[in-house]
Amino acid sequence: MDESLESKFTSLKAKNLKIDLTRGKPGADQLDLSNQLLTSGVLSESSSGVDVRNYGHPLGIPEARGLGAELMSSNIENTLVGEQSSLLLIYQLILANYLFGLVTPWKNQGDIKFICPVPGFDRHFRLLDDFGIKMLPVPLTGSGVDITKFKALLEENTNIKGIMSVPRHSNPSGDIYSDENISELLQLGKEYSSEFLFIFDNAYLLHDFTSSANQTPVWDLANKYNVLDQTAIFCSFSKVTFGSGGLSFAAAGTKLFNLLVRQRTSMIVSSDKVNQLRHTEFLKNKDDVMSHMKKHAALVKPKFEVAFNALDSLNPEIGNYKKPTGGYFISYNTNKPIAKRVIALCEEAGVLITPAGSTYPNFNDPADSNIRLAPTFLSPEDLKEAMEVFTTALQIAFQEKLS
Ligand SMILES: Cc1ncc(COP(=O)(O)O)c(C=O)c1O
Repeated sequence: MDESLESKFTSLKAKNLKIDLTRGKPGADQLDLSNQLLTSGVLSESSSGVDVRNYGHPLGIPEARGLGAELMSSNIENTLVGEQSSLLLIYQLILANYLFGLVTPWKNQGDIKFICPVPGFDRHFRLLDDFGIKMLPVPLTGSGVDITKFKALLEENTNIKGIMSVPRHSNPSGDIYSDENISELLQLGKEYSSEFLFIFDNAYLLHDFTSSANQTPVWDLANKYNVLDQTAIFCSFSKVTFGSGGLSFAAAGTKLFNLLVRQRTSMIVSSDKVNQLRHTEFLKNKDDVMSHMKKHAALVKPKFEVAFNALDSLNPEIGNYKKPTGGYFISYNTNKPIAKRVIALCEEAGVLITPAGSTYPNFNDPADSNIRLAPTFLSPEDLKEAMEVFTTALQIAFQEKLS
């Protein structure tokens, strides 16, 4: 190893750092933006006349359903408010299809498959794996799914049940799917099968920090191509108000919506209307949400800039990344197969990074290249230290490969 790199790494290790860069969590300063939720006191009755303290309204109070519909551009009748987690709603949608299906239950259809854009969200892969669903990776291009490869997967495989995508600020690549890309996906999937599901996990719908990229709402595109009954859209307030203390929302075409409702109402009698009212008193409409999100952006953006500065100082031969304009992640791709080694070196120096391979189905990143960084939770000082360790580890691992 280059002597100066070696001595730098030794002195970084001597700092005995304990920094966790693994998960995309809001920083405490971001959580403080919603503290009013803790002190506002909840009214017992919503303006629509619902006594939120009691059973009833399993799909949510009209105020919260209306807010979800406004955010996703969906119809209120086709929009429900879930618990605090959109991932749970997605799980329930998959479960509903597995048990009952739009036509035939998936459980009776033998080996079924799903298309997964990569790099992607480890929890999506885990969820699909729970049902024994085979995952077919398709690369992202920077503006959505690689359509040629998507088409090839459809041609080569039977029994594909759908695609699970994050159309805005994808986790971790930051892709914002273009309207053309979403339109092509919708048309090709519809042609493939009337059972092909389009699951849009819009977890970062509201989370721009520099982007002003226009995107036609997915709901409108699905409506245009007449595939609403095969389309489900999800979002949540996990990174708007409190991580796992917000609201989640789902919207789908009527057939699919009813399937989800059928499944959920076996699980729950009612919904948490107290939290719904607390939230809709705090954030009454889309304008309120958007101005709240601007405050998040002001806190998040400088942290991303710390990370960008560190990455931009590297020799471009080592790897590449695209600056995200929103969301919670940076996706760094090494040019040589060194992701595992880089992450091991970081751990040696007290910096935890999401394990290599996590951004691929079955932890299988064939190029051992993709590394996900989550800068939001750390203080700027810790982030700077963590990035120094990361960039040093990258240089060491790259040099080892050259020698
Ligand atoms: C793409 C994506 N979907 C869903 C979630 C989880 O959202 P929720 O807290 O609403 O379950 C995350 C959180 O990291 C995410 O990145």
